[in-house]
Amino acid sequence: MKFFIDTANLDQIREAQDLGVLDGVTTNPSLMAKEGITGRNNILKHYVDICNIVDGDVSAEVIATDLKGMIKEGEELAELHEQIVVKVPMIKEGIKAIKYFSDNGIRTNCTLVFSAGQALLAAKAGASYVSPFIGRLDDISTDGLNLIAEIRLIYDNYGFETEILAASVRHTMHILECAKIGADVMTGPLSSIEGLLKHPLTDIGLEKFLADYKKGN
Ligand code: E4P
Repeated sequence: MKFFIDTANLDQIREAQDLGVLDGVTTNPSLMAKEGITGRNNILKHYVDICNIVDGDVSAEVIATDLKGMIKEGEELAELHEQIVVKVPMIKEGIKAIKYFSDNGIRTNCTLVFSAGQALLAAKAGASYVSPFIGRLDDISTDGLNLIAEIRLIYDNYGFETEILAASVRHTMHILECAKIGADVMTGPLSSIEGLLKHPLTDIGLEKFLADYKKGN
């Protein structure tokens, strides 16, 4: 399972990269705005900065919602760095754009996916990644993990190569359950990854080992 961090914060990306288990980064316009990154040139520069920190794929989202605009923006983003994956929203024009990018060797991440039908369409269009937002489904009392299981079944039935990128991950249990189901990738905050480290018996055990070592030295 690949681990992506869902942020545009360079310090957090560096911290996750230093941990040695980071496979990529996802961003979105809200995450960029949260870091105060505004203006086209600053936004493009920020994507390059992220690519220079992390070894893996970096999702950069288009703002346009018409086909022509999405293609123009997506090509500009893809030109920035070989690690860039163009993030395209799950709308009719988005599916056309994904098909265009896929035919032209540009990798895509189909975002804002909330149903198995949408995920099937994204795979048919040739998306490299599909991003079902599990946390946002949970927020409206709908089982986000069930969607991951449905998509896994459908993709395996037909051998689709689109990678299931479990997005809107909020906590450690989301990561574990996605791993059990077989999501290819998860993207979440640094806290969800660091949460995997924690167990009180580890802390108690280490304290005892160190105390016992000190007694004999
Ligand atoms: C996915 O690529 C999105 O950036 C993200 O996971 C959305 O998460 P949120 O629901 O926590 O905003």
